[in-house]
Amino acid sequence: MLSTFQGHDDATAILLAVHCPSVTLLGISTVHGNASAENTNNNAARCLYAFAAPKHIRVCPGAKKPLIRVERHDPEIHGIDGLGGVEGLPRADDPNVQARLVGDGTPGRALEGMAKAVSSTWNNGQGSKVTVVSSGPMTNIALFVSVYPDLVEGIDEFVFMGGGVGMGNRSASAEFNILCDPEAAQIVLDVPVKKTMIPINVTHTAIVTRPILSQLLAPGSAPAPIGGPLPKAITPLRHMLSTLIGFFAESYKYTFGFIDGPPLHDALTIAYIEKPELFTCKRYRVDVELAGTHTIGETVVDVFNYRSVDNSWGRHGKNCLVADKLDVDGFFQLFLDCIARCDPV
Ligand code: BDR
Repeated sequence: MLSTFQGHDDATAILLAVHCPSVTLLGISTVHGNASAENTNNNAARCLYAFAAPKHIRVCPGAKKPLIRVERHDPEIHGIDGLGGVEGLPRADDPNVQARLVGDGTPGRALEGMAKAVSSTWNNGQGSKVTVVSSGPMTNIALFVSVYPDLVEGIDEFVFMGGGVGMGNRSASAEFNILCDPEAAQIVLDVPVKKTMIPINVTHTAIVTRPILSQLLAPGSAPAPIGGPLPKAITPLRHMLSTLIGFFAESYKYTFGFIDGPPLHDALTIAYIEKPELFTCKRYRVDVELAGTHTIGETVVDVFNYRSVDNSWGRHGKNCLVADKLDVDGFFQLFLDCIARCDPV
């Protein structure tokens, strides 16, 4: 189950979730974040259709606002509709897109959808556990574990993109996903289930550079010379992906000064599930700053183990694996392989 708020890199996470060979995507819940709930629901459904996900995988609209704070949007990074600048995605009113939405798109179906997915897969211990992935604020997941505590035993791991070790991107110390709903993140961090955090320290190494973009547009092409033209996209899907990455690249250049390309933050969550060997991680106590004057939403990573008192994944223990290194080439090979599975040429 993927909980996403649908921006550009969230779209690439959906692509990987559909096309990684050992991942079985059960569904998507959307959550407040970069754009209106209506846009994020539609965007997730548009991606599922564009990426040829099996028809039974659907989008469950989720929380429209954080647990206690005021909702934030991020048009500066993802455009007004959450997928700014993307050309060639199917339209939201396409019946094939609408068929991917649970209900009529109005919020509130996420908890029910997650409960169904976990209980039917876990089947009271007769089946298998589910990995819950978050590529946005963790409001839906915090609500889910609060409303359905008995289903937590059906979850084997939470994997989330968010936080930073000593750095932020939407304040001096807070990363956007955690900053949007810090209380929700703390609730999830306290659940006594394994967690893996993919922080910006690592996602900032997954940069879509021009050579990677060239391979995406036209596999096997010669690397585009610096300043020279990129190859032409050989299929409509590859064109669509290049416009998605192109918009994100401009946002990152303008806002954060990334000159080599944009980081594919959210796709790393799924890459971690498919190929954990691409990452090195260390286990720490992680909490979220909920009351700081300058540091609300900071992930406080207890590198020298001041605070954990037991070995649990819950409230008193080293509750989280924190990724600290990525095999960047291995990740982009997986990314390009997934595109090739979605769009064979
Ligand atoms: C996170 O914030 C969003 O803009 C991205 O989609 C990613 O999930 C990075 O801080």
